[in-house]
Amino acid sequence: MDSTKRASIYTGKNEEYEASVTSPVNIAVIKYWGKRDSDLILPTNSSLSCTLSQDDLHTKTTIRASRLFEADRLWLNGVEEQVATSKRLSNCIAQARAFRKELETNSQVVETIATKERPLSEWKLHIISENNFPTAAGLASSASGYAALVQALANLFELTLDQTELSKISRLGSGSACRSMFGGFVEWRGGESPSGEDSYAYCVAPQSHWPSMHALVLVVSDDKKGTSSTSGMSTTVNTSTLFAERVKSIVPKRLQKIKEAILSHDFSTFAEITMQDSNQFHAVCMDTYPPIFYMNNTSKAIVHLVHLFNSQLHPETNAPKGIRAAYTFDAGPNAVIYAEEQHIKELVQLISYFFPPAKAQSFRAYFPDAYKIFESSDDHL
Ligand code: ADP
Ligand code: DP6
Ligand code: CO
Repeated sequence: MDSTKRASIYTGKNEEYEASVTSPVNIAVIKYWGKRDSDLILPTNSSLSCTLSQDDLHTKTTIRASRLFEADRLWLNGVEEQVATSKRLSNCIAQARAFRKELETNSQVVETIATKERPLSEWKLHIISENNFPTAAGLASSASGYAALVQALANLFELTLDQTELSKISRLGSGSACRSMFGGFVEWRGGESPSGEDSYAYCVAPQSHWPSMHALVLVVSDDKKGTSSTSGMSTTVNTSTLFAERVKSIVPKRLQKIKEAILSHDFSTFAEITMQDSNQFHAVCMDTYPPIFYMNNTSKAIVHLVHLFNSQLHPETNAPKGIRAAYTFDAGPNAVIYAEEQHIKELVQLISYFFPPAKAQSFRAYFPDAYKIFESSDDHL
């Protein structure tokens, strides 16, 4: 997360404050899907993700506070969203303001001429947020979006909270956002408390723990998904019988095993669990009634291709080359493939061979280096 201290801006006699941050997306390898409390955004299971480098996919959010503003307003990608009617936006802003008020009440902040008259917690905000990648297309825009919003609020209000506490505020905007408050391999501990005090993110291992790990982002479609993550998971909780089994007996074991795999750099276990969990998440979506289909034919072809890659034999010895890549799909058709540095070139060649770019082809760097392979429509195959 790139965040700087807030700036004071003087426009004539009027003092204003501004904070600007950039936040990364994260792609889960153990998926969060299902809420036990939809107001506080408390999940039915813990989850784990990798935060990608923000050099490419990111949200940039700038917040300005002025005594002259009459209402909190937010523009997302240039279009105004209604803050007052969005519970998620207003919850995050209200929570950050409450912490600011606490600082003001305890005289823990230095009052300036401007804030002596009326404390900063009472000033209205104008928020500008831009995602530099498709919004609501299954590439975790709600994660980087709410992470950026909360970090910018924290900087603007000079909150003295640590990242764990801030992760609880961003969780109120979108569950997956709490994991974007940290870099590297991050777990969202689901917690049990009805208040949400034990539902937060923490860093299992920094990105530097496994520097050869890369993520390839394959943009299959830029389109907005038909079923938002929020509504999809709510229907799943209410209708899927597979879902209960997943939450109770499968996820806890997988989570434990994948954390061990990460800590011991065991790529093949990491990859196997990642692929199985993605597949099960999509199976649970299909078990939802009416069913939800996030993956399309291109997504399925990518699954086959990765299994083909993983089943290759060494040309001389005939020994299996082993599991060297793992796909995962969020709530959308776009794929993220995790692989280690030494296999990236071969993998990219294989993918480019089967999926020659329909539109633009560009190679980009995430986590720390990953590549946007292609943008292809479903009928391209
Ligand atoms: P995704 O797969 O992209 O996370 P979701 O269905 O989970 O899709 O969430 C998409 C929604 O998240 C958007 O419709 C918008 O309401 C919200 N969102 C996305 N980006 C931002 C942002 N930068 N700031 C605030 N809210 C955002
Ligand atoms: C499939 O965090 O977008 O990407 O909490 O309702 O905003 P809300 O949902 P969201 O759900 C993410 C679902 C997922 C899996 C994951 O990121 O763990
Ligand atoms: Co989302």
